[in-house]
Amino acid sequence: MSIDLATTPPTAATTPTATATRPPLSPNALRRIVRDLAERPERWLHRVRLSGEERWYERLELAEDYEVWLISWLPGQSTGFHDHGGSRGAFTVALGELEELALAGPEHGLTVRRLASGSERAFGPQYLHDVRNTAQGPAVTLHAYSPPLSGMAHYELRAGGLVRTSTEGAEQW
Ligand SMILES: [Fe+2]
Repeated sequence: MSIDLATTPPTAATTPTATATRPPLSPNALRRIVRDLAERPERWLHRVRLSGEERWYERLELAEDYEVWLISWLPGQSTGFHDHGGSRGAFTVALGELEELALAGPEHGLTVRRLASGSERAFGPQYLHDVRNTAQGPAVTLHAYSPPLSGMAHYELRAGGLVRTSTEGAEQW
């Protein structure tokens, strides 16, 4: 009896066993994603809704290594200080205007930025900010995160700095 080598099944060494996890996209790559999307409103404008309860949001895209969200903001709506669970991120103000508060480092204090329509922000995995609509009218933003958000923590700004007050997992949104 002989063994037919031509029909011998491949060994485990030649069979892919697991898909390699892609490295996260850079903040600049995420910035390009939201910029390109902002320039193509036919892909998202008809989906925008407004909610008086809280910010309205919808995920537009979910890939292995990033995701894209569409968010609307009525006057007075805000995120509070939060992180992004270690994800990198970028966002652009597609309509309206917002304000962003961020800690620029222990020695630099609080930075306040007015984000007019067309403004873009991109940030690394440690970034903390509070985004708010302090304007008179609604705003719409496009956000990209990599890897896709797995959770985020909320913080309160107190005399000694930011204090973590709660965390939420992706299953909560
Ligand atoms: Fe954020």
